[in-house]
Amino acid sequence: MKIFIDTANLDEIRRAAEMGVLDGVTTNPSLVAKEKCNFKERVIEICNIVDGPVSAEVVAVDTAGILSEGREIAGWHKNIVVKVPLIDDGIKAIVQFTKEGIRTNCTLCFSAVQAYIAAKAGATYISPFAGRLDDIGHDGLEIIGQIRQIYDNYGYETEILAASLRHPKHVLEALMIGADVATIPGSIISMLTKHPLTDKGLASFLADWEKVKDLV
Ligand code: G3P
Repeated sequence: MKIFIDTANLDEIRRAAEMGVLDGVTTNPSLVAKEKCNFKERVIEICNIVDGPVSAEVVAVDTAGILSEGREIAGWHKNIVVKVPLIDDGIKAIVQFTKEGIRTNCTLCFSAVQAYIAAKAGATYISPFAGRLDDIGHDGLEIIGQIRQIYDNYGYETEILAASLRHPKHVLEALMIGADVATIPGSIISMLTKHPLTDKGLASFLADWEKVKDLV
């Protein structure tokens, strides 16, 4: 499963990239707003740090507007994937972007049938938001499992990009389901290597080594 980082924060991106296991980046208008930065400049900076897919979202909600914004955004850098909301006008735009060879990430997906339509439109990625479904008492990971089965049943090549992941267990569940990508906030990526028994075991190995290291 590929790991994308879900942020527009450059320090977080650099930290995750330094570990060598980062495959891409997703942003959205709320993440960009948090950084109080220029959208275009920030997206290009991100593309120059991570040589992988970088999702940048349109804010138009009509097909013509989505197409015009998306074409412009896609022209900023070769790494860019145009993020398009899962609405009728967005689906129409994805069909056209697909014909033009522009990669898309169909976002704000909350059901498996929505994901089915996005795949038919030719979306490169589908982003089901697990955490936001959990927030309203649904099972976000169950929907990702349904999407996996639908895509496998019919051979859709759209990649499942598990999004709105809130804790390491979400990441584990995405792995078990067979999501193609997980987009993860920086704070959760840092948690993925942590286990108290690892720390305890390491402390005890190092302490024991101190006792013998000078013996000849
Ligand atoms: O970028 C899309 C998604 O990951 C948003 O997550 O935590 O705002 O629901 P969240």
